[in-house]
Amino acid sequence: MNNIEDVRKNFPVTKNLIYLDNAAVAPVHNLTKKYMDEYMEHFLNFGLKDYAKWADFTEATREKLAQFINAKPNEIAFVKNTSAGLSIIANGIDFKHGENVIIPDIEFPSNVYPWLNLERKGVKTKFWKSDEKGFLDCKKLEELIDCNTRLVSISWIEFVNGFKNDLKAISQIIKNKSNEFGKKIYFCVDAIQDLGALKFDINDYDIDFVVADGHKWLLTLEGAGFMYCSEKVLDGVHPVSVGWKTVKDALNFTKIDFDIRQGADKFEEGSMNIAGITSMEASMDLFSQYGMDFVEERVLELSDYAISLFEEKGFNIASCKDTKHRSGIVSFTTPDIEKDFLKLMSSNVQLSKRGPNLRISPHFYNTKEEINRLVELLS
Ligand SMILES: Cc1ncc(COP(=O)(O)O)c(C=O)c1O
Repeated sequence: MNNIEDVRKNFPVTKNLIYLDNAAVAPVHNLTKKYMDEYMEHFLNFGLKDYAKWADFTEATREKLAQFINAKPNEIAFVKNTSAGLSIIANGIDFKHGENVIIPDIEFPSNVYPWLNLERKGVKTKFWKSDEKGFLDCKKLEELIDCNTRLVSISWIEFVNGFKNDLKAISQIIKNKSNEFGKKIYFCVDAIQDLGALKFDINDYDIDFVVADGHKWLLTLEGAGFMYCSEKVLDGVHPVSVGWKTVKDALNFTKIDFDIRQGADKFEEGSMNIAGITSMEASMDLFSQYGMDFVEERVLELSDYAISLFEEKGFNIASCKDTKHRSGIVSFTTPDIEKDFLKLMSSNVQLSKRGPNLRISPHFYNTKEEINRLVELLS
């Protein structure tokens, strides 16, 4: 049985701040510090010696990440960040002139620009319009997909209001449309929002690509991203950025043989971000210590609690209250968000402003008492 006081001991940030900004950049935890110290000590004192140990850590982390989303290790690539992963996909698929890509109109720029960047190839980006509340209706997606649609890319959870997209329904629509038009339509998910807060099993859906950076809910250092590419579609995505590590016999530096790897590691062109991967390993170990059932339960309990408290105080809730679309993000407005934002930040409450709303994003180490304190400050 997990004890919240023990959990909080792993998060020194809790001694200094009420940290409700995990959807922006999360703090790291003690296990990361421990693993990073070991990494620093090694390179400080021994440099390259026993380098294989770090290569082994990388592969162990790949396996842990694969397990985390129930994928296979050869379907996981380490990437610099979410934007890089989405760009690998956008540039790696052989899009043809006249084809189109569909994205919601409320996406974070990382999931917009890689697709707009294809316009030079004659590939159009079509926007799936959200309703007046900023929520997405799957029926609109169904109407938007046409015989030229090659890919649909969405966030699992929308950053601006925490709207959780119904991945099952969307993957079914895409599958049906693929059958109707007799062609493959790819499904790509930016999962940076809430991967690490909510449980995610790739086998629950028909998804081709998942990309996420670690610095939000996965609690890693920044720049420690990963990408899932289903083995069913791996061959169809060409590695656009290549280097020594792209090939099968990568350690044979004096032999040139451009024989590209078959797994998702073909997207890792050169030396790896071992520090970032080490922090990803620390987070995988932390989540496995507490269990994602516990983590998810706490996150949803805290965000539901925040919604009910905000409603009691008469604040407008911009997030969807339907449990099907709930996540760890709660967006809300107060009569004067500029003033309230400054007041909270200067009172050591860390949160964000997004669009016309304040946004909180409690993780499993937060408490109801912290949310009470935020409300007290606002009252
Ligand atoms: C939905 C979404 N995607 C991507 C990012 C960040 O992308 P990157 O990992 O490239 O920094 C954010 C950050 O706020 C986000 O909310």
